[in-house]
Amino acid sequence: MDKRPIGIFDSGIGGLTVLKEIVAQLPGEDTIYLGDTARVPYGIRSSSTVIRYSYQNADFLAMQGIKILVVACNTVSAVAIEKLSGRLSIPVIGVIEPGAMAASKVSARGSIGVIGTVATVESGAYQRVLKQLIPDVDITARACPLFVPLVEEGWIDGNIARNIVRTYLKSLRRHKVDTLVLGCTHYPLLKDLIGEYMGEETVLIDSAVETAKETQRVLKSEGIMNSGGRTGKRRFYVTDSPARFRTVGEIFLGEGVTDIDLVDIV
Ligand code: DGL
Repeated sequence: MDKRPIGIFDSGIGGLTVLKEIVAQLPGEDTIYLGDTARVPYGIRSSSTVIRYSYQNADFLAMQGIKILVVACNTVSAVAIEKLSGRLSIPVIGVIEPGAMAASKVSARGSIGVIGTVATVESGAYQRVLKQLIPDVDITARACPLFVPLVEEGWIDGNIARNIVRTYLKSLRRHKVDTLVLGCTHYPLLKDLIGEYMGEETVLIDSAVETAKETQRVLKSEGIMNSGGRTGKRRFYVTDSPARFRTVGEIFLGEGVTDIDLVDIV
């Protein structure tokens, strides 16, 4: 029994989709979430900037005495996960491997689509892991940068969202991918529209769900679960005004977000 909290960070608010799954699968664990809301978005920045930001985020959480670090951000996972693992002395989990692993298991024909931010898609991180898992995999990758502001605006249904989904995903549908990895924290909120457009033959992979499963697996194998049959405490830190985090956070978490503190991590 290890009472230390699970640390989770994201470039901003989107990582709450990962926290939501962690809370669902590991309700007894305490969690500390850091959203770097002052510097979001990361998805349009260079690798060196994303790495520098992610060191500051990870160091802040490590100082809070966490037992495991979950990097909820796909962009950070794509460019910095190995560096973060080397930097910290606790287990570090990213979202890319769990998502890619799940896709490789369900893909019927090895025709896999990957969508994410520009940085995630250009890094080739999902593509690399998928190729290791299925050597002759056929990958169609597409950056969908407008999905992030769309979701943050709360426009997750209706015609504007439907048109943007159709425009971005046209090539993936034409390619008849049998599996589509939602490689960005925000995309699970567009799951219904994406599923509607891609059709029933395409299986959608939610990296958030898979990452929570991986977190549970690592906690068990390391013998560091908190199995006290209690409800875990939630704590939130942000690098910019908590007010917006509180409002938009509810869309992501599906419940009220309280106990939010503003921090300077630089
Ligand atoms: N959290 C980012 C990701 O999953 C999306 C938002 C951003 O660009 O920072 O890639």
